[in-house]
Amino acid sequence: METIYEKTATSPVNIAVIKYWGKRDTTLILPTNASLSVTLSQDHLHSKTTIRASPDFEKTRLWLNGVEDVDIEKNKRLQNCFRETRRLRKEYEEKLRKDKGPDKVLPLSEYNLHICSENNFPTAAGLASSASGFACLVYTLSQLYELPISAAELSKIARQGSGSACRSLFGGFVAWEMGSKDDGSDSQAVEIAPRDHWPELEALICIVSDAKKGVSSTEGMQNTVNTSTLLQHRIEHVVPVRMKNMIDAIHERDFQKFAEITMQDSNQFHAVCLDTFPPIFYLNDVSRAIIRMITEYNSTNSEKKLKAAYTFDAGPNAVIYTTSENIPEIINLIAKYFPGNDDVKNYFSDPFQLFVGKTIGE
Ligand code: DP6
Repeated sequence: METIYEKTATSPVNIAVIKYWGKRDTTLILPTNASLSVTLSQDHLHSKTTIRASPDFEKTRLWLNGVEDVDIEKNKRLQNCFRETRRLRKEYEEKLRKDKGPDKVLPLSEYNLHICSENNFPTAAGLASSASGFACLVYTLSQLYELPISAAELSKIARQGSGSACRSLFGGFVAWEMGSKDDGSDSQAVEIAPRDHWPELEALICIVSDAKKGVSSTEGMQNTVNTSTLLQHRIEHVVPVRMKNMIDAIHERDFQKFAEITMQDSNQFHAVCLDTFPPIFYLNDVSRAIIRMITEYNSTNSEKKLKAAYTFDAGPNAVIYTTSENIPEIINLIAKYFPGNDDVKNYFSDPFQLFVGKTIGE
């Protein structure tokens, strides 16, 4: 009979409010600037990974959303994650062998793996699927291997799968410290505040298009590093100040400050994309209409306050951060600006709400 060891886990999506864009080391995935994100509830958006290990498996195999089409051997990012977790498992096995005796230890580090990973949302449509996917892979491996390791240490391994994945190892508000060491040992994620620190904060997700994006983040950001002078300004003069102010805004639950920095940073990220040569366009007409809608909402409300903030990653889909009391108004606004959107579904989940309008626009 086959002996199989199995673990399943899920990981959340995170949406940056200070964007990561640019690597100073493309192999270790070390960023050119720090970043900060909010981890969304797993109720509606998550990656789920099941990993089996067996001495009877002839090779390691991976199915992504049911399809086995990734060349594992050639995929350096996957290899990084396998190598690092296996190395830790080996060390752990050696320790257990010494402590408990040689025949009490499963040599899991020597077994091949069968990995099934699924996202319950569009892959590679600018909705951080690589973040939750790699975070989930590394987390599930750590569970299978029973690694005695902290989330911060795990985040350094997930980072080598996809930079933004390091932030999905934590809930709540998470910073990715860029670090300064060449070996990446100080480039890790840290929790700024837990999710229940600011329960009124909500994220509404507007799916503008679920098509796969044209220019991948990985390719796009290196073109930006090589050609954009605006990026250098951003790295040196803008992000360090924004990180500090954003951390203060979160600690103080100051939505005005949070919303202003979030929108400014999304705008600057897309500005450096435009400053890349040749330019990269992630926003489309619908994305821009959403920006106009939120800008108008913020400037015409009776309280004269910022009541919502948009942000866009490497794709046209919008994430709108707001506080709970504004949700009905914003949903009405979306219905007004994007009529005939019958597919709009409304999900309520604490503490981050999710609004998916699948056919907004295109
Ligand atoms: C725009 O983490 O997908 O979402 O490290 O090359 O895998 P790689 O890039 P990735 O880039 C995410 C970029 C972003 C901003 C962010 O999440 O901070």
